[in-house]
Amino acid sequence: MSIISWDDYAADEASPLTSTSATKIKTAEPAVIAAAIAAATIKSSVAKTEKKINHSNATFRVGVTGLEELEVGAARIQVDDKKIINCRADLNQLVPFKYKWAWQKYLDACANHWMPNEINMTADIALWKDPEGLTDDERMIIKRNMGFFSTADSLVANNLVLAVYRHITNPECRQYLLRQAFEEALHTHAYQYVVESLGMDEAEIFNMYREQPMIARKAEWALPYTQSLGDPEFNTGTPENDQRLLRDLIAFYCVMEGIFFYTGFTQILSMGRRNKMSGTAEQLQYILRDESMHLNFGIDVINQIKIENPHVWTEKFQAEAIDIIRQGVTLECQYAADTMPTGILGLNYPMLEEYIKFIANRRLAQIGLPEQYLGATNTVPWMSEIMDLKKEKNFFETRVTEYQAGGTLAWD
Ligand SMILES: [Fe+2]
Ligand SMILES: [Fe+2]
Repeated sequence: MSIISWDDYAADEASPLTSTSATKIKTAEPAVIAAAIAAATIKSSVAKTEKKINHSNATFRVGVTGLEELEVGAARIQVDDKKIINCRADLNQLVPFKYKWAWQKYLDACANHWMPNEINMTADIALWKDPEGLTDDERMIIKRNMGFFSTADSLVANNLVLAVYRHITNPECRQYLLRQAFEEALHTHAYQYVVESLGMDEAEIFNMYREQPMIARKAEWALPYTQSLGDPEFNTGTPENDQRLLRDLIAFYCVMEGIFFYTGFTQILSMGRRNKMSGTAEQLQYILRDESMHLNFGIDVINQIKIENPHVWTEKFQAEAIDIIRQGVTLECQYAADTMPTGILGLNYPMLEEYIKFIANRRLAQIGLPEQYLGATNTVPWMSEIMDLKKEKNFFETRVTEYQAGGTLAWD
């Protein structure tokens, strides 16, 4: 039995997870002569246009944001012009594709679309309001995880939109990042929807990341990575700065989305397996599926950056990356101990600790680093089945088939 098949997700053989795609990329057709003729004939008008638009004080570097001046009549973009970072080719043009794995993930993510308000929360509301419905420990687990996730997903979204997006200089990767950003909004929506449905104290939940020490520590740990990248003065293009981007990607994809979410996922999904809070668990099930793809996209991006920029992957940097992941494991184990002081739901702290180390080994291996927790095994194998979209036949059966958005359209 494969241990984590969805986690191994690599939809395209060109994925840097499964191959050295850089060597497989085919060169597209050369630019047609007509483009060159057109370029020549409109050159004079371009010069005039440049004069008009160059009065702005914009300081965009050539070709790294997609916001640069339009180069009318420039040679057509060839697939080999495209680069995952520090690209000088126009970023407003999706095709020709270079990173088919990124486009495939975008398509797969769209095919997996869901909305939080499609999920029936009636049974959860009844159970939550029943004084005998849940133990104090179970209530704490729900509340703490809503507190953690609701702000963690906002942190991830802000990191994507305000820090990472600008530095990933490839349109098909950006297309996936836009989809991921929307999914993070859906996740925050899902937590808000659960909190509202259950009638929880919203201020208590949404302030937990400042008031609950272990939630605060995880957020505090992640913030410097995105702050450094979100600095408007920061640009990639030197080995040092390219490493800063990689550090952020490792911290957010491998640790935040790849380790920090897993105690909460395991605890709430374990509750769902016991027919408790099944609506909340179903929300988390959809979120976990999205997150598995986010993680694998991030790993593909990290590996592609390594393929194209091998000089950044120094021994010193690798040691630093290992340390980032080890720090994440320490914090997540503390979070697991904090949210689960006693064993409940068929889980206990030693099981979670080993599971966290098991998934950390996978994150390390996925980006080409040595495992740090020798012998750690998968203590919650049912999590793998939940993550495996292809195996789960009944996943969509509980969905409401009519979208509320469709129902709100009025044509008369
Ligand atoms: Fe998320
Ligand atoms: Fe995510």
